[in-house]
Amino acid sequence: MSERIRVLLTEEEVDHKISEIGAKISKDYEGRSVHMICILKGGVCFMCELAKRITVPVSFDFMAVSSYGGDTKSSGVIKIIKDLDEPLKGKDVLIVEDIIDSGRTLSHLCELLKHREPASIHICTLLDKPSRRVKAVNVDYTAFEIPDEFVVGYGLDYDQRYRNLPYIGVVEFDED
Ligand code: IMP
Ligand code: MG
Repeated sequence: MSERIRVLLTEEEVDHKISEIGAKISKDYEGRSVHMICILKGGVCFMCELAKRITVPVSFDFMAVSSYGGDTKSSGVIKIIKDLDEPLKGKDVLIVEDIIDSGRTLSHLCELLKHREPASIHICTLLDKPSRRVKAVNVDYTAFEIPDEFVVGYGLDYDQRYRNLPYIGVVEFDED
């Protein structure tokens, strides 16, 4: 079986939309700074492209999480693989995620980070699959809503591959 990638969103479409969101965030945060938290690894490309288009002062931090396996997976409990380097107290936090699927990761993460007393906490995602939602998440900025298909590129992987594609594509399998 071989794989091929069907383009879902072109590089131009993604770039254009990120510019729009960057402008909106710059306006919404006027007079303040944005403390961007990238959820590794998938959020990396989006965060870099987005940050370049934000005109208010920006700082970065990074976090890696994973779902607990087995039975507890459905509870949405997440394990912190790499925690933030800096405290959040008093900061205007913007969580930057690649994709929201069931919503379990982000709903749990938000609760966890609220306890660190940021001044505010907002969520920005490159992609959203609303039809897959199990846990409600308050998403403030969404670049694209997509159907329930497995996508790669722009940070998203299939088995750690394709993260570097400059567009968003759907993985398709050919019988051969
Ligand atoms: P959830 O919202 O907690 O279900 O999980 C979201 C995470 O699942 C994302 O951060 C991705 O790492 C992964 N994920 C969900 N859908 C896709 C996809 O279509 N392609 C690649 N990763 C995905
Ligand atoms: Mg992710």
